[in-house]
Amino acid sequence: MSSRSDLTIMRVCFIIFLLGVLVELCDGGITSEYVRGSDLPDDMPLDSDVFKVPPGRNTPQQVHITQGNHEGNGVIISWVTPSAPCSNTVRYWSENGKSKKLAEATMNTYRFFNYTSGYIHHCLIDDLEFDMKYYYEIGSGKWRRRFWFFTPPKPGPDVPYTFGLIGDLGQTYDSNRTLSHYEMNPGKGQAVLFLGDLSYADLYKFHDNNRWDTWGRFVERSAAYQPWIWTAGNHEIDFVPDIGETEPFKPFTNRYHTPYKASGSISPLWYSIKRASAYIIVMSCYSSYGVYTPQYKWLRKEFQRVNRTETPWLIVLVHCPFYHSYERHYMEGETMRVMYEPWFVKSKVDVVFAGHVHAYERSVKKLNLVLPSSIDLPLYLHCPQVIIKYTNAGTCF
Ligand SMILES: [Fe+2]
Repeated sequence: MSSRSDLTIMRVCFIIFLLGVLVELCDGGITSEYVRGSDLPDDMPLDSDVFKVPPGRNTPQQVHITQGNHEGNGVIISWVTPSAPCSNTVRYWSENGKSKKLAEATMNTYRFFNYTSGYIHHCLIDDLEFDMKYYYEIGSGKWRRRFWFFTPPKPGPDVPYTFGLIGDLGQTYDSNRTLSHYEMNPGKGQAVLFLGDLSYADLYKFHDNNRWDTWGRFVERSAAYQPWIWTAGNHEIDFVPDIGETEPFKPFTNRYHTPYKASGSISPLWYSIKRASAYIIVMSCYSSYGVYTPQYKWLRKEFQRVNRTETPWLIVLVHCPFYHSYERHYMEGETMRVMYEPWFVKSKVDVVFAGHVHAYERSVKKLNLVLPSSIDLPLYLHCPQVIIKYTNAGTCF
């Protein structure tokens, strides 16, 4: 009898030991003592400095750039002229180039309930040299504006590059602190992987699209000078049948273009790019993704196209996380996880970055990867508080 109870005790102890090992293995560690306060920050008022309209009548504003083709030597330059079409031309030149080139933009406007947008210009330039500084000018006459950006190095296995990560930015006081934090980071991010939820304009009555304009002016100070790679979040859906707005993603897709056709996608909401040593796949968790949907078919081919010899880093961006421990949004990503996690594992995806939950969590304690010697990404994964920061953009997220 006593030997039987000894055995039971040993079994229980062994199970407790195993659970302890499991807990230790699953503990991702704590990298920051930061705890979000209970007071949610307000949106910055319309007359804030960061929303200032540039001087002059109809001067280009809300300037932003993103990658324009699959390889990285293309750029899409976008801006808004608020009251008239104005010049639709981009003048651009390389730092050591002798002549200036011209490129023509497309132009569109849209209506959203009682709001009419300004004139939104998008200009694709895809004949750039890799690893080069370029200047560009938009607008005309006295109020012409000049910006610059750097093209990435040609894709290759050992090419240094630094990405910043921002998600769920919004336009609160904390949003401004987050963007400043990124700009002042000594790591000097060269492109932003944006994880969805941009302006949070949908929190306003009738989804007041003036708040898309303020957001565009707010992020211009970074997004005009380095590409922001866009992922769509739930705050981009803007589906409001009650007021007659039944076209999902209308403000987002009108304002923020992506190079989706270059990767064989049929939707601006899911696409891929190469940038330096990384292959980046952007997914849309608010578009259909079940078996035989366009996104499913595209993604299946996409993984086959990745050449790890050329781009050893395979990164996926998706707004809704597959895993997290928060009560809010708990298991919202579960159906997508069930669908695609086996593909991610089989394709050996290195990192999945997600937003949506306004906190930092990761599922791996140490990245056990063989790294190209020069890539900076792991550094930031291990110091996430430096480069990854989320804001609480409002009461709803
Ligand atoms: Fe979200």
